[in-house]
Amino acid sequence: MQRVTYNFNAEKNLDILSKAAFLTTKYGDKINTMVIGWGTIGTMWGLPVFIAMVRKSRFTYELLQKAHEFTLTLPYGELPPSALTVCGEASGRTMDKLAACGLSVCPGQKLNTPVLNLPGMHFECKTVYERPMGEENLDKALNELWYTKTPDNYHVFFIGEIVDSYITE
Ligand SMILES: Cc1cc2nc3c(=O)[nH]c(=O)nc-3n(C[C@H](O)[C@H](O)[C@H](O)COP(=O)(O)O)c2cc1C
Repeated sequence: MQRVTYNFNAEKNLDILSKAAFLTTKYGDKINTMVIGWGTIGTMWGLPVFIAMVRKSRFTYELLQKAHEFTLTLPYGELPPSALTVCGEASGRTMDKLAACGLSVCPGQKLNTPVLNLPGMHFECKTVYERPMGEENLDKALNELWYTKTPDNYHVFFIGEIVDSYITE
C-alpha cells in the first residue's frame, strides 16, 4: 500500500470515475458496494473532499445515512467480469453483491468501512455534509432529462472529508 495525497493521479482518477468507480458502505455487519459515475474530488472548508451523488432509491443511500462514512475505489486493473453489472444494476437489499461477483474487501485504515480488494486508488471518506438536490434550484432541462421519469428520486450530495488516500497493487 502506498499512501498518496488526495489529488495524486487526479487526471487519471477523474477519467476512471467518469466511467465507473465503486462506493462501498458498511453498517453493522452489512457491507455493500455500488458503481458510481458521478462525483468530484476537490477542497471545501479547507479539507480534501469527495462529493458523491447517490439517488434516494439506492440501498447505498440507506447505509450512508446510518454509517456517515464510505470508501471509494478507483480500479486501475481488470475487474471480475460481472462486477459492473452486479454492482451497477442489482441492489444490496436483496443480495450479497460482493460475493455474487467475486469481490472481497480489505479493512479500512482509518474508518470502519473497508475498501475493495482491487488494484487501484482508494479514498476513505467521513461524511461532513448531506443534502438532497431539488427541482427548485435545478436547471429545467436537466431536471426534465434526469428526474421526471421517477418521482422523488433526486440524487443526494454526500460530501466526504477524505481522511486517507492510498494506492494498492
Ligand atoms: C456506470 C454506472 C454509473 C453509475 N453512477 C451512479 C451514481 O453516480 N449515482 C447513483 O445513485 N447511481 C449510479 N449508478 C447506479 C447504481 O450503481 C445502481 O443503481 C446500483 O444497483 C445501486 O446499488 P445499491 O441499491 O446496492 O446501492 C451507476 C451505474 C452504472 C452502471
